[in-house]
Amino acid sequence: MSIVRDSFHSRIGFVLAAAGSAIGLGNIWGFPTQAANNGGGAFLFVYLIVTVLLALPALYAEVYIGNQAQKNPVSALGDACKGVSENLGRKVGLIGLCGAIMMLSFYTIVAGWMLAHALSSLAYLFDASEIASWLSTSSIQRNLMFTPIFILLGAGIIHQGVNAGIEKWSARLMPVLLIMLIGLIIYILNQPGAEEGLKVYLIPDFSQVTDPKLVISAMGQAFFSLSIGVGGMMVYGSYMQKGKDIGKLVLSITALDTVIAFLAGLLIIPALFVAQAAGQEVFQGGHLIGEGQLIFNILPELFNSMGHVGLFVSFAFFSLLSIAALTSTISSTEVPVSYLMEDKTFSRPKATWLVSAIVFCASMLLIIFFDHLFGLVIRVLTTILQPLSCLFYFIVVGWMWNRGNKLRDKALQEGRKWLTLWGNYIRFVCPLLLSIVFVNVAILN
Ligand code: PHE
Repeated sequence: MSIVRDSFHSRIGFVLAAAGSAIGLGNIWGFPTQAANNGGGAFLFVYLIVTVLLALPALYAEVYIGNQAQKNPVSALGDACKGVSENLGRKVGLIGLCGAIMMLSFYTIVAGWMLAHALSSLAYLFDASEIASWLSTSSIQRNLMFTPIFILLGAGIIHQGVNAGIEKWSARLMPVLLIMLIGLIIYILNQPGAEEGLKVYLIPDFSQVTDPKLVISAMGQAFFSLSIGVGGMMVYGSYMQKGKDIGKLVLSITALDTVIAFLAGLLIIPALFVAQAAGQEVFQGGHLIGEGQLIFNILPELFNSMGHVGLFVSFAFFSLLSIAALTSTISSTEVPVSYLMEDKTFSRPKATWLVSAIVFCASMLLIIFFDHLFGLVIRVLTTILQPLSCLFYFIVVGWMWNRGNKLRDKALQEGRKWLTLWGNYIRFVCPLLLSIVFVNVAILN
């Protein structure tokens, strides 16, 4: 049966949607939290290296597989593994699909915090300070209310299809986020205590950079931030016309995503030190207090210190983050949705609502058993499942496709030297690097 697939109207449509997927809570919440917990500059240093050496090629491989197959991730991986084991490819695709659900289960909770904070500033503006303070204080009730709201918002957009909403939304809002970040950085760097934070962030302590735990965290963060290893980028790649030269596109997505993460760190790490200088308890034994929730106290405080203007800034900032989170949620949801539509002949709305219901149940579990599950799910996803999928992508592109090296064949056909090099890099170096990191994950666990 042939299905008329949705698609992006242009290459720029793909770049925007993929950047929308990449830029999200991982950049503004995940990256600074991880950097603060892992020695600041040392983390930044390793993060940048891992991004160039591993995450960028992984993103390339993922988009490439999707683009060649023009199918949902499960079928795309199945196709790519034909001749070796189609079944194996499909299974790995299904594991990625579970990863996408895992991602959504905690992501929608954090995104709910963002929404609540945006509304809280609005409530302050209207002098409803009791409601405002309820909204800005973390509680299970608040989670139970805002996580479903966020899931509904995402479902509302995604059931309309790929290019109705996704392309346009991302385009207009990301530049605004960038400008706000820069403005806030200038403000925070002029506060007492910021200089200490700046040093911690920008000057790496090189004795830490070989710490395997740090390397694993940085790799997990890089994969998460670029949305690799759950099939989201593969779906977007499949919505782009076959045969586009994806190298440049992937490069620009990586650059954009990394710049935003870097800037978020430049804002939040100094802000943490400003708060500490003002007498707030921020670190305990070199670690941030409370599973990464602290930055949600630090940011509102920063906005408070700006007086009345701060409320507007706070509203704008948290609203933008909610939207950035929404565009990331969309790409993850699209993974199971595209699978259900193409392989199980669901209609788009039906698939969307089924997936949203599953995500709802999963996130409720996480909220109820927050202390046990929240951090665990994040760790399993980012340090085990996503890297394993990436390893598989490398092997597929480098070895299994037509029982050979797909990229090298393409390079030979087109007579392009750098592509041969790139093909060999993905074939030999990437799996090796990733395996080394993996051995360390196994040892540490
Ligand atoms: N990259 C997104 C972020 O940084 C999160 C994400 C992960 C989105 C995996 C899709 C798939 O917030």
